[in-house]
Amino acid sequence: MPQGVVIIGLQWGDEGKGKIVDYYTAEADIVARFQGGNNAGHTLVVQGTKTVLHLIPSGILRPHAKCFIGSGVVVDPEVFLEEIDILKKAGVPDLENRIAISDRCHLIVDYHKHLDAAREGRKGGIGTTKRGIGPAYEDRASRRGLRLADLYNGKVFEEKLNDNLQEKNFLLKEFYKVAPVNMDAFLKKYSQIAERLKPFVKDVSRELYNEIQNGKKILFEGAQGILLDVDYGTYPFVTSSHTLPSQAALGLGARLPKDTLFLGIVKAYTTRVGDGPFPTELKDSQGDLLRSKGGEFGATTGRPRRCGWLDLVALRYALQVSGIKHLGVTKADVLSGIDELKVCTGYQYNGKTYDTFPADTSLLDKMQPVYQTLPGWKEDLTHIRSAADLPKNLTAYLRFLEEKTQSQVNLISTGAGREAVIDIHRAF
Ligand code: GDP
Ligand code: IMO
Ligand code: MG
Repeated sequence: MPQGVVIIGLQWGDEGKGKIVDYYTAEADIVARFQGGNNAGHTLVVQGTKTVLHLIPSGILRPHAKCFIGSGVVVDPEVFLEEIDILKKAGVPDLENRIAISDRCHLIVDYHKHLDAAREGRKGGIGTTKRGIGPAYEDRASRRGLRLADLYNGKVFEEKLNDNLQEKNFLLKEFYKVAPVNMDAFLKKYSQIAERLKPFVKDVSRELYNEIQNGKKILFEGAQGILLDVDYGTYPFVTSSHTLPSQAALGLGARLPKDTLFLGIVKAYTTRVGDGPFPTELKDSQGDLLRSKGGEFGATTGRPRRCGWLDLVALRYALQVSGIKHLGVTKADVLSGIDELKVCTGYQYNGKTYDTFPADTSLLDKMQPVYQTLPGWKEDLTHIRSAADLPKNLTAYLRFLEEKTQSQVNLISTGAGREAVIDIHRAF
């Protein structure tokens, strides 16, 4: 692999990023997360055992790899520590020495989660994961946030918390009519958390700088997907962070290695969890089939994922705003056995055909997909390890995708397991 590889999702999340990150970690020294939080659910399947990671980078199951969490990530310390406990129980070694969280990370605390859930319970909810992600990023932008470094400065932490609670408890109690947060209980809980977190809290930007100087190989692991980016996604049905690859540098306080590959992960069809426009959604038995064959249930919330055909208008747009040219395609195995596959190549609205993705989300809701039909394949792909052995119609499907999006497929995933990967272009 080159010295740097940035891996991001090109759709609405759940493209299989975690699996591909784990695959690449065989050759990487460090895996670093740079945005999002535990709204992410990244699934790894190693020798039949499934692990779902929300905060800890997807390189952790490879004992040689270090895992960094950059300042762009919002950290729920309780979830982090739960994940540590689960990994320890599973026998994953040396966690204290291998994981570093930036002391600049903003904390997700109880009132963020309560506010997220309370808002979702009202009209105007967008189907968030209710993990407090939006409220925590709001506090960062409005300069009210609590950062990890504050946890180790009792007086500052208490003062900031006191200011915050005056406002948050007013909102919780008076506006949302839910229970407020108790300051004393909060302080007690977080002082215990601070103690347990201590071994992991580091100056990640500096550590990463040194590692890059020393020629170490770094994987930058994105969460969510381009269509959930706070600016470039289907606003307001988006997450609250930037999911573009440029966020890798910002969210870690690092200059990416000169030799960095930007790899976008795309599912061979489309899924989405939560509300928002989805032009190629299948609300019929075909959608149900994709959901059941693909196991399309949220790795974080368990919600059924909405399923639909591959949307090349959305994909072209995602490639344009991210600058990505190289693709990893996942879950083509789920399409095996479907006679005819539809692929969206344009949108139709008011008698006109569009091949671009509009900023006006309400318009996107009304647009009808224009489909091209391609022949399917029947073969089971799970054990195929060479591109030459792929069914002819799958190769044609991938060629069509490449042609219509002016991109190159570098990697094909043919099953959930770590080993189910066909690496087409090793030299990028
Ligand atoms: P992420 O959020 O992008 O890491 O993706 P998720 O883990 O949320 O969802 C992807 C799901 O598909 C997980 O259950 C993976 O185990 C599974 N998966 C990944 N790649 C493949 C593949 O090529 N084929 C199949 N059948 N499953 C896959
Ligand atoms: P990974 O990394 C799929 C969606 C939520 C909701 C919207 C906002 O596993 O691909 P938030 O809780 O972030 O405020 O919710 O974003 N969402 C995801 N959908 N995969 C994810 O992460 C997601 N993270 C957030 O469902 O629609
Ligand atoms: Mg996921």
